[in-house]
Amino acid sequence: MIRHWKLTLYLMLFIAGILTYSILYRLVSSAGRKSREGNKDIVMYTPERQRTGQDIVSDFNAAETSQAFVERMAHILDEKLRLIPASETKDDSITCINEEVIGNSCSPKSCLQTQLPSSSRERVEQITRPNHLRISRNLTHLLQRMRNNVPGYYDLIVVTAVSSSHFTEARALLRNLQTNVFPHLNNFTFIVYNLGLDPFEVSFLSEVCKCHFIDFPFEHLPDFMAYLKCYTWKPIIINAHIQRAKFIMWVDASIRFHGDPEGLFGLLERAKYRGIQLGSARPTIAHVTLTSMFHFFGDEACAYSPYMSSLNSIIVAHNEEFVKKVLLEPWAACAVSGDCMCPQNVKDLMEIRINCHRDLGKYVYGVCHRFDQSALGIIGTKLYQGKSGYIFIKDLNSFVDVKRGDTDGVEKVDNPIRGNRTRQV
Ligand SMILES: *[C@@H]1O[C@H](CO)[C@@H](O)[C@H](O)[C@H]1NC(C)=O
Ligand SMILES: *[C@@H]1O[C@H](CO)[C@@H](O)[C@H](O)[C@H]1NC(C)=O
Ligand SMILES: *[C@@H]1O[C@H](CO)[C@@H](O)[C@H](O)[C@H]1NC(C)=O
Repeated sequence: MIRHWKLTLYLMLFIAGILTYSILYRLVSSAGRKSREGNKDIVMYTPERQRTGQDIVSDFNAAETSQAFVERMAHILDEKLRLIPASETKDDSITCINEEVIGNSCSPKSCLQTQLPSSSRERVEQITRPNHLRISRNLTHLLQRMRNNVPGYYDLIVVTAVSSSHFTEARALLRNLQTNVFPHLNNFTFIVYNLGLDPFEVSFLSEVCKCHFIDFPFEHLPDFMAYLKCYTWKPIIINAHIQRAKFIMWVDASIRFHGDPEGLFGLLERAKYRGIQLGSARPTIAHVTLTSMFHFFGDEACAYSPYMSSLNSIIVAHNEEFVKKVLLEPWAACAVSGDCMCPQNVKDLMEIRINCHRDLGKYVYGVCHRFDQSALGIIGTKLYQGKSGYIFIKDLNSFVDVKRGDTDGVEKVDNPIRGNRTRQV
């Protein structure tokens, strides 16, 4: 009897020992893991809501390692790619097959990546991990200050920007939006950025636009960004305001909506599932993008030789984490770098802007540059590759005209500063 009792006691002690050991082991090893992660580049993504106290959409629930972030975004990309029907897929994956196709892609010494990555994880990683493709704390704060100029949260934010050279064209856009778009919307706001209008134009526009009329904060950004024809302001504005709406729609001064709102509603619906919708243009990205920008993204131009370029005169973006972190933030990081969207080592930025029509041969890449469009095109193409048609607007012409320089129906105004102007410069 006693032996039996002793045996039970030993058995219980033995079990208790095992339990204690395993609990201690877990505690110790998880502490060790934490400190190892601490040494790695742990990225603390603070929830947006905590930072501003106002934003409704919060992106991150807790601290997350950048590797875990990449995995999570790659999973979302997989889901998006899986939804794309075969009819919208082209197999363009083989590029840079020989010296001829490589053309002028590489530097004399070496080539960067000549083949876009196939796995979702690598696609996301290459766009979000490098430091130069992340936005700085500075820029994050600036974007917050910009969005705080427009309080509230909307279904749709419509936004544009105007400089003196597009003053009259922008007035025609205002009329078009006020007649053909805004009457069909009930939960939206309209933002117009001043890129350097004269005082007369400012007082005129701010009076008629029924909008948030905001000066673009050139003074808080690198000097080169004041050169308007690099369009670096566009990614900054979109990144600033997307947080406060379900959708943000960028429109250039040249955009004219037809009267029927169905096309616009269809576009928003597509953006909801596809994340982003962009115009597209026939020339390949490789043709209309400086090779230096491909290098900034770690690639060679020939890797993009099969893909169409994007046309950013109209952009609709859905406010979701994937779109903001993987598409839009790297785009803004490129905008503020002197080596990407508006490369500072180029002598004549005007010349490379207008050179796109030159035909120097099929395998001469980067004959011109499309600035913001080139960068968003690279990001979208690396992510979607043969499926990149998915993020392009299909039937744009059925509900929108792109009318460059259009001033239809806009009366002359007597500008005491500049004289009467009706035509665009
Ligand atoms: C960050 O802010 C400082 C001080 O305002 C400024 O000198 C610096 O250029 C900014 N950096 C970036 C990357 O914007
Ligand atoms: C507008 O829509 C947002 C959601 O998209 C909602 O939070 C907000 O309350 C709406 N405002 C009005 C006035 O309906
Ligand atoms: C602009 O045009 C009006 C008549 O349309 C004229 O009276 C005015 O003097 C003009 N102003 C300038 C600066 O040319």
